[in-house]
Amino acid sequence: MSRFSKGDPSSYSEPENVVTRHTDLFWNVDFDKQTISGEAIIHFDIVAKEIERILLDVSDLTISEVNVVTEGGKIPVTFTVSDEVKDIGAKLTIDLPTKTSGELKVSITYETSSKASGLQWLTPENTLGKKHPYMYSQCQAIHARSIVPCQDTGAVKFTFKAEVTHPSELTALLGGVRLSSENGKTVYEQTVPIPAYLLAIAVGAIVSRPLGKISKVWAEEGIVDECAEEFSETSQMLATAEEICGPYVWKIYDLLVMPPSFPYGGMENPCLTMITPTLLAGDKSLATVVAHEISHSWTGNLVTNANYEHFWLNEGFTMFLEGKIAGRMFGREARDFHAIQGLSELQDCLQGQLKDTPELQKLVVDLTGLNPDDTYSSVPYIKGQNFLRYLEDLFGGPSQFEPFFRFYLEKYKYKSVVTDDFKSTLYEYFNGKADDKLTQINWDEWLYSTGPLKIVPKYDTSYSDAVHKQVEVWNNNPIDKIKNHPDIDTNLHVWQLIGLLTELVQNPNNVEITEEWISLLETTYGFVGTRNSAFLFTLARLYVKGRLFNRLNQVFNFLNSNFRMKYVRPIYRDLEKWPEAKPLAIENFQKVKSQMMKFCAQSVAKDLGITIDI
Ligand code: BES
Ligand code: ZN
Repeated sequence: MSRFSKGDPSSYSEPENVVTRHTDLFWNVDFDKQTISGEAIIHFDIVAKEIERILLDVSDLTISEVNVVTEGGKIPVTFTVSDEVKDIGAKLTIDLPTKTSGELKVSITYETSSKASGLQWLTPENTLGKKHPYMYSQCQAIHARSIVPCQDTGAVKFTFKAEVTHPSELTALLGGVRLSSENGKTVYEQTVPIPAYLLAIAVGAIVSRPLGKISKVWAEEGIVDECAEEFSETSQMLATAEEICGPYVWKIYDLLVMPPSFPYGGMENPCLTMITPTLLAGDKSLATVVAHEISHSWTGNLVTNANYEHFWLNEGFTMFLEGKIAGRMFGREARDFHAIQGLSELQDCLQGQLKDTPELQKLVVDLTGLNPDDTYSSVPYIKGQNFLRYLEDLFGGPSQFEPFFRFYLEKYKYKSVVTDDFKSTLYEYFNGKADDKLTQINWDEWLYSTGPLKIVPKYDTSYSDAVHKQVEVWNNNPIDKIKNHPDIDTNLHVWQLIGLLTELVQNPNNVEITEEWISLLETTYGFVGTRNSAFLFTLARLYVKGRLFNRLNQVFNFLNSNFRMKYVRPIYRDLEKWPEAKPLAIENFQKVKSQMMKFCAQSVAKDLGITIDI
C-alpha cells in the first residue's frame, strides 16, 4: 500500500464503491453456546455509479441468509465466504441481483463462533462475584468482523441501533446511549457515526455509581464503590479536555471497569470507556489512563485513522492530549515527566518487542502482510507524541499550536484521516504565518525512520532528575553503602517511584540484584505488600532480572492476577530467557491461557517461543 493511500490493507471492503451509513443490530447473547446470533441490517450508500456486489469483512461467522431489504419485503441474494486468511479473516461477497445505485439495505442473518477473536466469555469462576457469567467485546484493531459482517476499516463510519436479548438477571452495556432495558431486552443507539472498531458490548452482573453530570462508573458490585473513588477525577478530566478540544459530542461518558482478563489498559469505546481493574491502585495514581481514553473522544473517535498504517494519528495525538490534560491538572513537571518516561519505554520496545520488525519502528508503516494488532507498540504512541510536541515547540508553544489543533479537529470531525491530511492541514494553517518553520520539518525522518528518536524535544526534567539520583544510588553502590546513603529520598511521588523501578529494570546494573538488594529496595520505598500494579509489574521484572528463584511465586501470582498485555508480555518474554524458569512459565501459561483473549494468548505464546492452538 502506498504511504499516503486511503486504501486499507487490512480490509476487503471497498469504500470507494459503497459505504455503510447505519446498521441495525438484533443480537441474542447466548451464554450456553457462547455465541451471539441474530441479524444485521446494513444501510449502504452506493458512492460509485453503480455496483453489482458488496464486499464485507467477516471472521469465523456462520452466515445463514442474506437478503436485500426493499419496501416490498426481503429478496434473498446469493453470497460466498472466502477461505479465512490468518489474522485478517475472510471476504464475504454479496451478489446483487441487478446493477444498483443510490441507497441499499441488506439484511444478514448470522451467528458468531464461540471462539470469535473479538469476544471473551468468562465462566462465573472467572468473575469477581463468582455467580454469573460475563462476556465482553474488544474490536480494535480488526475484531469487529468476528462479531458482525462489516466494512471493518477506519475509513468507514456509521451510526447504529442495537436490540440485545440477554439473560434478564444480567446487565447489557453498549457503546452508545441506552434507550431502554427491561426483561432481558436492552436497546441502545449511537447517533454519532463510528468506525466498526468502536463497536462494543459487555454483558454481566454489572452495577453503577455516579461519577458526574454525564458519567457513571460500572463494575461488578464487589468493587464498584472503590472504582467510584479511584476514578473520581473523571469529570474534571473531561472538562479539561473540552477546554482544549471543544465540546464533547457523545452525550455520556461512562467507565466500565473490566474483569482482569481485559487485555488493554483502556479502550475508548464511545460513551463507554473500558478500563483494566489493574488501575485500582487505591490512590488515583494510575487514573491518567482515563485522561487518555477521554482524549480519544476527539482524536480517534471524532477524527479517526483511516487504517492502521496511520495509527499514530489516533494514539500519538491522544498521548499528546493526555499530556496536556495532565499538565493542566498536575503541572508542567508532571506532564514532562510522563513524556520522559515514555522515551525510555520506547527504547525498551525498540530493543525488545520490535527488535526484528523494523517496519513497525516507523511512525507510518506499510501494513501489507502484517497483523494490525502488532501496531500496538510504543512507536505510534511515543514517537507520535514527541513529533507533536516537537511541532508545538517549533511553532511557538501551546498558544500557537492549540488553535491549529482545534482547526484540525474541526476540519476532520466525523471523518477519517491519513498522515497526508494532517500534513496538508498543517501547511494550510501555517502557510504565510510560519513558512520558515514549515521548511524545517524533516518529514521523512519523523515518519519513516527506524530506531530511536533522533530529535528529542526539551522537557522539564525536575521530576526525572530526582529519579535519576535514586537510580544512581542503587546502580552504583554496594548494599551496605546504600542503606545510609545521603541521597536516598523516600518522599518521591508515586509516579517517580514507578519511574525509578522502570529505570532499574532497563538499566544495566553495576551491582548484582540479590535477595538482599531487592528486600532493601522494597523496604526503603515501602513497596512491601503494595497493590499498585505498576509497582508489582516492575518488581516482578526485577525478580526475573536477578534470577531470584524464590520470588517466582510472586511473579506467577502477578501474572495470573491480570492479563493486561502491557504487563504480562514483557514478563513472559523475560522468563523465556531464563532457562530454569522457562518450563515453569510455559506450564503456568498453559494453565491460565483460557482466561486470556485469543490474540493475547497467541502473543504470549509467541513471546514464550511456543505454538498453541485455540
Ligand atoms: N485504543 C487503545 C487500545 C488498543 C490499541 C486496543 C490497539 C487495540 C489495539 C487505547 O486507547 C490505549 O491506548 N490504551 C493504552 C493506555 C494508554 C494510557 C496508553 C493501553 O492499553 O496500554
Ligand atoms: Zn489510546
